[in-house]
Amino acid sequence: MWDKRPDTIVHERSPFNAEPAPSALCGHQITPVDTFYSRNHGPIPDIATGDWQLTIDGPATTPQALSFADLTTGFGTHEVIATLQCAGNRRTGFNRVHDIPGEDPWGPGATSTAQWRGARLRDVLRATGVPDDPSLHVAFGAPDVSDLATPTQPYGGSIPLPKAMSEEVLLAWDMNGAPLPRVHGGPVRVVVPGYIGARSVKWITAITVQSAPSENFFQASAYRILPADADPESARPGDGISLSSVALNCDVLAPQDGATVPAGPVTLRGYAFAGDDRTVERVEVSRDGGTTWAPADLQPASSRWSWRFWSFSLRAAPGPLRVTVRAWDSTGSTQPETAAALWNPKGYANNSWATARYDVT
Ligand code: MTE
Repeated sequence: MWDKRPDTIVHERSPFNAEPAPSALCGHQITPVDTFYSRNHGPIPDIATGDWQLTIDGPATTPQALSFADLTTGFGTHEVIATLQCAGNRRTGFNRVHDIPGEDPWGPGATSTAQWRGARLRDVLRATGVPDDPSLHVAFGAPDVSDLATPTQPYGGSIPLPKAMSEEVLLAWDMNGAPLPRVHGGPVRVVVPGYIGARSVKWITAITVQSAPSENFFQASAYRILPADADPESARPGDGISLSSVALNCDVLAPQDGATVPAGPVTLRGYAFAGDDRTVERVEVSRDGGTTWAPADLQPASSRWSWRFWSFSLRAAPGPLRVTVRAWDSTGSTQPETAAALWNPKGYANNSWATARYDVT
């Protein structure tokens, strides 16, 4: 479906929600388009580049409408290698603590990295005369209507103006050197490196500069961390912690959790990622459940905004083998031990230690 690899794990066909098999994600620092995860909340719009239009508005700006040609020829073109990560990545860790009804059981693959090309959002905003006021927010609107929202509404979200004015935030029309595929937001999507994937709004058609965060369901009610005892059905817009930058996390991709591996040398591989103003500085592996740790080999990041791959070689003896992995970021923070300590009824931002169990024969 949607030109994805045959081994793609499809959680839902409509709306289309799918993640790559861990072994497929592991092979490439820049994820091929046929391997890149896809997260959708409604039907995928079909917009020809010739019909696409972006309106930019707000109390403090001069209203404007840009065509695809205006956007692609009227501003400088820039490239950013950035990892997108869904806030629901690794939700299965939460599901082991409690069931989370109505939410897809994402494994470690709701994250991927691409080379995005487009215009800087800040260049477009500056052309409309947006004031340099850090208290403002930039809201994004899209045409895909989601009946998962209450009430049913088109997808949207917002980011604070200082992030919107950062050089890494793009209005992208190109992914890995080819026109942005429809399933990933073509003709044009926002790419907000370092923020949860939810803010990288696809099929963007409206930008509004405003004094408060977006009131869209996917900003005001979803993608928020509710207290562990909250009832999501009775939560009100604004309840819980609103997610912005991606929480430090890592996972094991190969050999896949649950695999049977031959005794002898084994090399574990995976990723680690830290959002926005933090970078991954260390990944450690434990063979005794977290009592002692040894450093993994960390590969350099492809960019300031990309994940880091890690590897760890060990000698496995016949019998059960359990490894635990944690990352550290540039603030000296590391990951919490268990998903149980983080559990929330919507299952967002599980950044607990990663574990993998193998049967060594
Ligand atoms: N934009 C629109 N218009 N509609 C959506 O459903 N999903 C968001 C974001 N942008 C979404 C959207 C979420 S939650 C994520 S994680 C990313 O898109 C996924 O991007 P991808 O499908 O290109 O991987």
